[in-house]
Order: sequence, then structure tokens, then C-alpha cells
Amino acid sequence: MEAIEVDNLTKRYGGSTAVDSISFKVEEGEIFGFLGPNGSGKSTTIRMLTGIIKPDGGTAVIMGHDIKKDAIRAKQAMGVVPEMSNAYVELSAWNNLMLMGELYGVPKRDREERAKELLKQFGLYDRKESPARGFSKGMKQRLILCMALINQPSVLVLDEPTSGLDVESSRLIKDVIRELNRAGTTVFLTTHNMEDASQLCERIAIINRGVIAAIDRPEGLKQAAAFQSIELSFNRTVFAEDLSNFSCVKEVKKMGDKFRLYVEDVDLTMDCIMDYARSHDLKIVALNTLAPSLEDIFVSLTHKNKPGED
Ligand SMILES: Nc1ncnc2c1ncn2[C@@H]1O[C@H](COP(=O)(O)OP(=O)(O)OP(=O)(O)O)[C@@H](O)[C@H]1O
Ligand SMILES: [Mg+2]
Repeated sequence: MEAIEVDNLTKRYGGSTAVDSISFKVEEGEIFGFLGPNGSGKSTTIRMLTGIIKPDGGTAVIMGHDIKKDAIRAKQAMGVVPEMSNAYVELSAWNNLMLMGELYGVPKRDREERAKELLKQFGLYDRKESPARGFSKGMKQRLILCMALINQPSVLVLDEPTSGLDVESSRLIKDVIRELNRAGTTVFLTTHNMEDASQLCERIAIINRGVIAAIDRPEGLKQAAAFQSIELSFNRTVFAEDLSNFSCVKEVKKMGDKFRLYVEDVDLTMDCIMDYARSHDLKIVALNTLAPSLEDIFVSLTHKNKPGED
């Protein structure tokens, strides 16, 4: 069964379309990444899936429950870490969890037991009586994750769960995501961190201006890219313009003392580099061919034909 099935989902704000008839499926047990630049429609999609806002068109089904016709069951199947904190700052960590458990209809004994387990797992048990107001960003995010897990959801939906967190907090969250997934939870997450996406996700959808630009496994996205890059440095300074004049080079980017050449044909570019070095009496100090990173692909799909642009 599909955990999430989205068909022509659309949201308009005034005259502009934030999410433009998108369709995709997330298999049960998958970690699915939803990537896109700022304002591309990621959070709007999540808000529709989780019942915060109503779509203007299309359908979405969560674990077999239509978000319009069977909204309560659809919501009960999900745990949500929203873009903006949903913790009540004046309530203690414990009471936030009790409130969330009650909202999801988790029986009192179960929610108490579960809250204890989660707070311990996320290193917050000692602070369970403290109001969330005094929590650091990382602690607050961990609390929000505990809240999202109080109902033991089949599908965990996370909107930039590691944004702004330090290495340790973000690692803890990623480890928990992996652990939950291993135990069978389907994960749908948005992130701006390409490294996280390629480490965590089995499949990735890239959304740009409300439209899905690509959906594939990270490796599939890399293979489909029509360019590779070469990292290169010489023993003397050279001008980037010289390198960008090679016919097969699409773009040159200076990175510290190296150049990154985005090319369509590696062999042809190698010949050009050798000729150039010989004719200018230069020595090649370093030369590496690199498969496109997820970041390269993301940039090339979201800034048309400009693979090297930041
Ligand atoms: N409540 C709203 N009223 C009007 N426009 C909105 C509203 N919410 C979102 N939008 C618009 O919809 C578009 C998509 O926004 P959304 O928040 O979904 O982007 P995002 O991909 O989550 O971006 P980010 O990476 O910055 O979080 C943007 O142009 C945004 O201005
Ligand atoms: Mg967002």
C-alpha cells in the first residue's frame, strides 16, 4: 500500500499558485525527501497533507484515508513536525505531551508511558516539568519531535526538522528518523540540507515554483544529470575566463585555489585541459572528476541550465 498518495494537489493564494497540481506517491516504509528552494511550495504541501489548510484542487490519501472525506483518520495516521513550533511555551514539556496525546485520543495510561519513554530517548526527561519557554532551539525541536511521536504514527511528516540545529542535535534527530523507519514508520521530510537528503532518503522529489521537477532515487537523479564536473588546480594562477572558453565547458566556478568545471564530456575536456597546460607552460597540481552531487542536480533543476550557480 502507498502511505501517501497525492493526485493533482493544488493551492492558490490570491492570484498566484503556491502548489500547482502536483502528484506523487510515497511507499509504505520509505523515507521520502521533498526538496525545493525557498517559496517553492514545500510547507504549503505539508500543510495540506496534515489538514492545516484546505486544497483548492486535487486529492491526497494518507494510509488509505482521504484527507477531505476521512480527515480525522488521515490525521491520526500522521505525526507532524511543522515548520513553526507547535509547542505551547507556557506549558511544561510533560504537559505539552499530555495535551498532544489527548488531542490524538491516546488513552491516559498509554500517553503517560509513551511520554516518559520519548522524553528519555530525546534527553529531556530531567526537564519534563520545565516550561518550553526556557528551552533552547535544539531542546524545543526535540520536544516537538516527541509530540509528533506520542500517537505512534505510521507516517511521520517533518518540515525542515534539523534547520538551525547544531551537529549533535541534528544527528540525534536523523538517528531517530532512521530508527523509526527501520521499525516501519514511513517518513516524509523537507530539508535544505543536501547531505542529509542523500544520506537519509530512498527517493527524492524536487519541487520548484509549485511544480515537481523530478522524482527519483538520489542515484537516479545523479545519473540523469547531463553534466559532470572536474576539479582542477594549476601551479600558477590562471584566469577562469580561459577555462570557460573551452568548447565543452558549460560553466566554471572558482573554489578556493581550485576551479570546478561543469562539463558535458569529460574526455573532451581533459584534452582541452592538457593542451591548455602545455601551451601555457602550466603544471596540473590536482585533477579530479566528480559525479554531480545532489546539490548540483538540485541547482540545475531549479535554476535552468546553470549547474554551477549558487
Ligand atoms: N498564508 C499564505 N498567504 C499567502 N501566500 C502564501 C501563504 N503561505 C504560503 N504562501 C506563498 O506560497 C508560496 C509557497 O510557500 P511555502 O511556504 O510553501 O514555501 P516553502 O517551499 O516551504 O519555502 P521555505 O523553504 O522558505 O520554507 C510562496 O510564494 C509563499 O509566499
Ligand atoms: Mg517551508
